[in-house]
Amino acid sequence: MKINELYQQISLLLQKSFIDNPKNEAAILICFVLNIEKKDFILLQNERQLTNKQIKQVTKLAKERLKGRSIAELINKKDFYDLEFFVTKDVLIPRPETELLIELTLPLFKKDQEIDILEIGVGSGAISLVLATKFINAKIDAIDISKKALSITKINIIKNNIQIDKINLIKSDFFKFSPKKQYDLIISNPPYIPQKEVENLIKNKIVSDPKIALAGGKDGLVFYKKLKEFGLKFLKSSGFIVFEHGIGQREDIKNIFGNDFKIECFDDLAGIDRAFVIQK
Ligand SMILES: C[S@@+](CC[C@H](N)C(=O)[O-])C[C@H]1O[C@@H](n2cnc3c(N)ncnc32)[C@H](O)[C@@H]1O
Repeated sequence: MKINELYQQISLLLQKSFIDNPKNEAAILICFVLNIEKKDFILLQNERQLTNKQIKQVTKLAKERLKGRSIAELINKKDFYDLEFFVTKDVLIPRPETELLIELTLPLFKKDQEIDILEIGVGSGAISLVLATKFINAKIDAIDISKKALSITKINIIKNNIQIDKINLIKSDFFKFSPKKQYDLIISNPPYIPQKEVENLIKNKIVSDPKIALAGGKDGLVFYKKLKEFGLKFLKSSGFIVFEHGIGQREDIKNIFGNDFKIECFDDLAGIDRAFVIQK
């Protein structure tokens, strides 16, 4: 069988309601198994003969995809901002909308400023690693409750050639975390989906990320309530809290932060309410 025949076959197999672009995903899986780039896929599609082992591997991955596993998780990589991350089922796959947090943070400090940053819920390391490359004199503490997530962040620090002591990885539950210092920036893409909705999203194969990365308590707002209290204690005066939130949570979050902070809110590129920049 040639690449193109397998491509047609897998594209058909992936034609399911929860898969937006079956052809693109078929090509990604084939490139991954053959270890070739997309441009080579186009050049080789009518020429290269596939082995039985390669056909079986691609088909097996496509079947896993049909069970609801994400494509990034199957090929173990995902781009975020200008870095590439190793990802597995144990971390949230970094989302393009989270890049807004980076865009909002870059203008807040000078590139060479000595700043103390805390990330809450580091996951694969997407946010902290990009910030480490942009703010050359930043010291970053990055916490996560998941030991597996922290080991993946560590792999990504090495993969992206980031100085190992730039990011201090801390295994901690945010609700019990009591640092010994204050920060110039507290940044987070916390779990923010109401518990019941998470169950539905997983059941309908819309997401396959770890529940702990998604569920923000009964109303999806527990992390924001804690962030406010935490910011009052551990944010330096004039420091910033930058965070992502879910659709329709803007007004509730404004109420949570009340008048203790200066508040600005932002939409993502799709025009959905998505992030806050809060200053003490
Ligand atoms: C939505 S994910 C964000 C991951 C990553 N920062 C990103 O944007 O791709 C939330 C992260 O918070 C972590 N988390 C969940 N509950 C936590 C808690 N109580 N304390 C610390 N981290 C927690 C999860 O393990 C997960 O890695």
